[in-house]
Amino acid sequence: MTYTLVLHIVILSLIQAASPFQHILPLSQDSCVSQDFPNQHAQQYPTLVSGNLNGTTLIVPIPLDTARQAIPNGYRIIEEAYRTLLPTFPDGMYPMMAQILHDHDLQLPSYNASLPDFSRASLEFPFLDIFGGGHTSFRWAATFMISAENDIAIEGARGYGADVYPSTFDPPCDSYRTLLSGTTYARGWSNNGARSRFMAIETVLSWENVPYPIDFIKNVTNQPVFANTQACDHYMRLFNTTLSSFAEPVVGSVSANLEPFSQPQKWSDVYGWRLATPFLEPPVLSECQATA
Ligand SMILES: *[C@@H]1O[C@H](CO)[C@@H](O)[C@H](O)[C@H]1NC(C)=O
Ligand SMILES: *[C@@H]1O[C@H](CO)[C@@H](O)[C@H](O)[C@H]1NC(C)=O
Ligand SMILES: *[C@@H]1O[C@H](CO)[C@@H](O)[C@H](O)[C@H]1NC(C)=O
Ligand SMILES: *[C@@H]1O[C@H](CO)[C@@H](O)[C@H](O)[C@H]1NC(C)=O
Repeated sequence: MTYTLVLHIVILSLIQAASPFQHILPLSQDSCVSQDFPNQHAQQYPTLVSGNLNGTTLIVPIPLDTARQAIPNGYRIIEEAYRTLLPTFPDGMYPMMAQILHDHDLQLPSYNASLPDFSRASLEFPFLDIFGGGHTSFRWAATFMISAENDIAIEGARGYGADVYPSTFDPPCDSYRTLLSGTTYARGWSNNGARSRFMAIETVLSWENVPYPIDFIKNVTNQPVFANTQACDHYMRLFNTTLSSFAEPVVGSVSANLEPFSQPQKWSDVYGWRLATPFLEPPVLSECQATA
């Protein structure tokens, strides 16, 4: 997610005026080339930031009272919304998301702008009602680890109200790496400050057990995102292109030392997907609005 402020885009497009569409790659990423598929939708949506978002999204069932403590008080958990989509989801539990993703080939044609790739890791909280009594689900995502080289992505996320830890990722230019055993992993860490932050995801394929259908992932990843309700990011992932036809169901573990939790956590035997989709994102943040 870029959470791009239009100001940053304009600055970037000025920097790049002499050579539109040329990426400014940070030095430490010069030596690796991403395996991500290119952005094929930029010209179709010239006024939106677009790119390829590739990575692992795991659904972590946590006790509802743990979720209630982690999520700020003003936001009601719309339990009926996730129970409608997942009738067999365990009682008393809430579906938190853990993600490590790689944003690739970001472009904004109307400004002749492109942005360097970056990785990000976060714990996110879907199915929240921010208006009270509303039925629209919003997703709270207030803390991110983002590739330290990418000042624009970091400042963009801060501009939307998120706390960002500039971080190092392994692998540096891709969403995950596959070991000889078939296990894939991705991890990020940040050693600045008194408490080091990290997240690591390890998964293996799980075609025989798929508790969360891809439609559920589509639903949670397309809820408007907010850090505080001053602004919402109406970020959209497209599930109707060939990119998502490579999606694979997975099972694995998440280790994280990251807000909103104050202690290191490890969740095992959690399910989700390795998945790439195009994304579209308005270059400016907008007011949070209920759609239904
Ligand atoms: C997603 O990332 C993996 C790991 O780098 C890569 O093998 C795969 O081709 C990527 N998929 C797309 C659609 O970009
Ligand atoms: C983008 O680049 C093209 C070709 O160089 C130029 O004609 C156009 O005016 C530029 N548009 C903006 C918004 O900078
Ligand atoms: C998610 O599912 C809910 C409940 O079925 C539905 O009302 C909502 O429109 C869906 N949202 C998205 C973004 O698909
Ligand atoms: C894919 O979905 C997007 C967003 O819903 C829509 O605008 C676009 O027309 C769809 N494309 C195809 C080929 O169906």
